[in-house]
Amino acid sequence: MADAPQIPDEAETRARWGAFAWTAENAEKAKAVIARYPAGRQRSAVMPLLDLAQRQVGAETQTQGWLPVPVIEFVAAQLDMPFIRAYEVATFYTMYNLVPVGRYHVQVCGTTPCLLRGSDDVMAACKNRGMVKGKTTPDGLFTLTEVECMGTCTNAPMVQINDDNFEDLDYDSTVRILDALAAGEQPKAGTQNAQRHTSDPEGGPTSLKDMVKANHDYRKEW
Ligand code: FES
Repeated sequence: MADAPQIPDEAETRARWGAFAWTAENAEKAKAVIARYPAGRQRSAVMPLLDLAQRQVGAETQTQGWLPVPVIEFVAAQLDMPFIRAYEVATFYTMYNLVPVGRYHVQVCGTTPCLLRGSDDVMAACKNRGMVKGKTTPDGLFTLTEVECMGTCTNAPMVQINDDNFEDLDYDSTVRILDALAAGEQPKAGTQNAQRHTSDPEGGPTSLKDMVKANHDYRKEW
């Protein structure tokens, strides 16, 4: 794939991340996560620990974070599992970054519902800001990735930026959000349509309206 990320040079990666270890705070968090699983099933903690490790790398690099191979090895060793099993998990889910990303990881959904509702305009707003798919902007601020359905089709088109979803987007609202992030502000997450509350229908409920004010029992009316 032309957009496939290029895994960084291994020698450099080992030099920078070979001595990775939890911060004191994350060591406590890791312990608590592992304790959720029954004895002998600690490997089940691989996903939250990979996420925690990615966040620690993010905090150290002032980015959204990524998973260098030595960091994945560290997590695998902590869970007493073969590296390849942890690597399989890290490469399967797009929530794990296998290459360095910018301060903001802009993940634009391009699957059919978002496409039909205008994801091309969202992508155009990103590209007009100098973003290139699969790359980080020279100022290190934004990394652009096109992803498959993020489960927010009701509010299509949408984009996930780090831990927030921005929904019901168009070209202008996407520009507004990117400008705010670049200015160090935290734009409002969720729907950008002032006529909507979360994923309710635009303009208010169209069915089960009696449920809005009280727990209305419809059964006698059916
Ligand atoms: S198609 Fe974009 S969130 Fe589902």
